[in-house]
Order: sequence, then structure tokens, then C-alpha cells
Amino acid sequence: MMLKWKCKMSVEIESLDLQHRYFIGLINRIAEELDGPDKEYQARLIDELYKFTKMHFESEENYMYKIRYPHLDEHHQQHLQLLEKLHGKMGLYLTDMLDGEEIIVYLSGWFGRHLAQADQQLAEFVTKSKATLT
Ligand SMILES: [Fe+2]
Ligand SMILES: [Fe+2]
Repeated sequence: MMLKWKCKMSVEIESLDLQHRYFIGLINRIAEELDGPDKEYQARLIDELYKFTKMHFESEENYMYKIRYPHLDEHHQQHLQLLEKLHGKMGLYLTDMLDGEEIIVYLSGWFGRHLAQADQQLAEFVTKSKATLT
């Protein structure tokens, strides 16, 4: 199962689009590696994914702060929940209590929903603000 970037995923903010694309690429790389023999490499990629996700959320939230986005708090809560779940799943994966496939399925589903709803809500706000400025 590969995730693909689609135009409708754009939030019209270049730096965030780039990060979302990178996130998709990373999920796909992990998915490809899961059947491979190198467990150490898989664990490294999953660690990279967690750190990247954390950085992306911070970056997205800083952007929201800068533009005084009114739904920053709710959005931040969603990010926190994901990080918490991801952390838990990573722990289970590293102790062989969960297979990597489950992390990928969970993340792909979460990413699709979050991007289509919360991140798109931000995109709409940005588009509307631009319209009132011009
Ligand atoms: Fe977000
Ligand atoms: Fe995002």
C-alpha cells in the first residue's frame, strides 16, 4: 500500500506542503522496508518518522501562531493525541508486540483524515485571509 501525494492535499503553504510530502515519502519508505530483514533499519526509520512528525507539528503550529489562527488549540490537541498514540505503538513495535504494518495502516489513515479535515481548515482560513487583504 503506497500513499500518493494529490493536488487536493495542498494547504497552499509551501513549507507545510513540502513537509506533508516528506511525511508521505517516509511512510512509503517504511512500508517498503517492513518485509525486509533489517530490523535495525526499520526501527531507525520509525524513530525518524516520530521525530519528523514532532518537528512538523511544531512547524505547523508556529505557522498558526504567527497568523493568529483561531483553532490553534484544537489542532494542537489533535497533534498531541497522535504523538502519544504513535509513541505507544512504537514502543509495542520495538518490543515485538505489534507489527510495523499496523503502524503504517494507522498512520496512513490518520494522515488522510487529518489532512483532509484539520489541515484543510487551516488552508481555507489562509485563503480567506489572503482574499480580505487584497
Ligand atoms: Fe496538522
Ligand atoms: Fe500537517
